[in-house]
Amino acid sequence: MIGPDVNQAFEIREVEDGDLDAYYDIRSQSFGHPETERTQWRDRVQRDHDAMRLGAYVGGELVGGLRALPGGQWLNGRSVPMAGLAAVVVRPEARGLGVARSLQFAAFDWMRDRGIAVSTLHPASTRVYRSAGYEIAGTQETVRVNGRSLAAIRTASDAPPEPPVVRLGREDWPAARACYARTAALHHGFVDRSESFWALREPVDDGSSWFTYGVRGTDGLDGYVRYEQRPGTAGWGYRIVVDDFVAETSAVAIALWRFLGAHTMQVPHLEVPHACTDPLLLLLDEQDLSVRFTNRWMFRIVDVAGAIGGRGYPGVGNGSVPVQIHDPWPGGCTGTWNISVEDGTGHAAPVSSDCASADTVATDIGALSALMIGRFSTETLLETGRMQGSPGAVDTLGRLLTSPPPVLDDDF
Ligand SMILES: CC(C)(COP(=O)(O)OP(=O)(O)OC[C@H]1O[C@@H](n2cnc3c(N)ncnc32)[C@H](O)[C@@H]1OP(=O)(O)O)[C@@H](O)C(=O)NCCC(=O)NCCS
Repeated sequence: MIGPDVNQAFEIREVEDGDLDAYYDIRSQSFGHPETERTQWRDRVQRDHDAMRLGAYVGGELVGGLRALPGGQWLNGRSVPMAGLAAVVVRPEARGLGVARSLQFAAFDWMRDRGIAVSTLHPASTRVYRSAGYEIAGTQETVRVNGRSLAAIRTASDAPPEPPVVRLGREDWPAARACYARTAALHHGFVDRSESFWALREPVDDGSSWFTYGVRGTDGLDGYVRYEQRPGTAGWGYRIVVDDFVAETSAVAIALWRFLGAHTMQVPHLEVPHACTDPLLLLLDEQDLSVRFTNRWMFRIVDVAGAIGGRGYPGVGNGSVPVQIHDPWPGGCTGTWNISVEDGTGHAAPVSSDCASADTVATDIGALSALMIGRFSTETLLETGRMQGSPGAVDTLGRLLTSPPPVLDDDF
């Protein structure tokens, strides 16, 4: 029986294959996933040997679990080892007792032991993850765009003929992956997809509701769009929900958008990922975009030396500042660190707290994470009490860790 003292009694360990059905039962009850998805989910999870699945057990019975998907995240032009946290679920009768917190701490131990420096997730509750050291890092949005407006995107009168858009099959999937990899590296915050992340978007193009179309180039693909056709809400037609939109040139982007817009007789609106918003605003004649769904994803540094040393620092001058970090995770980054940038490379080295001076910045791991990924400024962190320090030291930290706002559209 699960009682109030469950946090004294539960054991955290890997979820064996034989317990995946019990995990799905909790996941299904927690998220409302239908029984029809059980086999597909179990097979996918079982095949993913790189990912970790951790469970909390009471008397041998699974009461909660999470998955950690190893991959990378592009931070200012460099891929930093990252793990995405997914499927965090706890049986209703075991909630509020510290199960999710213990699962997260165990996941961080696993990440640290594998050289994974940062972690991201899409939260259903901010507090659950903030209290384990994550902080809000960026916005995930589904944007609604008018199909007629896409069909009407204009090209310059002297533009070369529009490149043909062709249907892609399974044999094109390696080229699509290579095309994504080339463009993702240019976007701060994008996932550097490993097998664990690609497994979430297998090339299901079997005549069902998923379709992939692309533009062929001289060496592979110059762009592609992968989308699902879902039943319409108006009693007729259908919706197009774009999962991946990748274009290496503006001509390819326009060709793919106009192709999607050509569905307009049955599809009045399309849903596209957040990363498409800015390029579309520059292509559309009018602001025919609206936000359909929004949530903010979260990020945390797991290994401060790996995160600061792993990201890029384009245009950042040299400097250093001592930072006293508080981290709720017992195995984490609590302590004083000298954070420095020298000739475009970052370093974080532990220093004795005796070396802390009036120029030491004090902050928590979540606030430092949000600063280094470009979401919150030092001004906002000072204003909200998440950072303290002399103006000079805080300015130096802000200058060294400056980043553009990140974008992460991958769902996991
Ligand atoms: C979200 C969920 C995993 C939390 O698990 P839990 O074991 O009850 O969480 P814990 O007891 O470890 O609590 C950790 C922190 O989260 C807070 N918390 C727990 N449940 C919460 C809730 N529903 N809303 C807001 N905060 C919550 C706790 O107060 C604690 O914060 P604190 O340290 O600041 O006091 C669980 O409620 C659940 O399975 N929900 C349904 C599925 C879901 O939404 N999962 C999250 C997907 S991102």
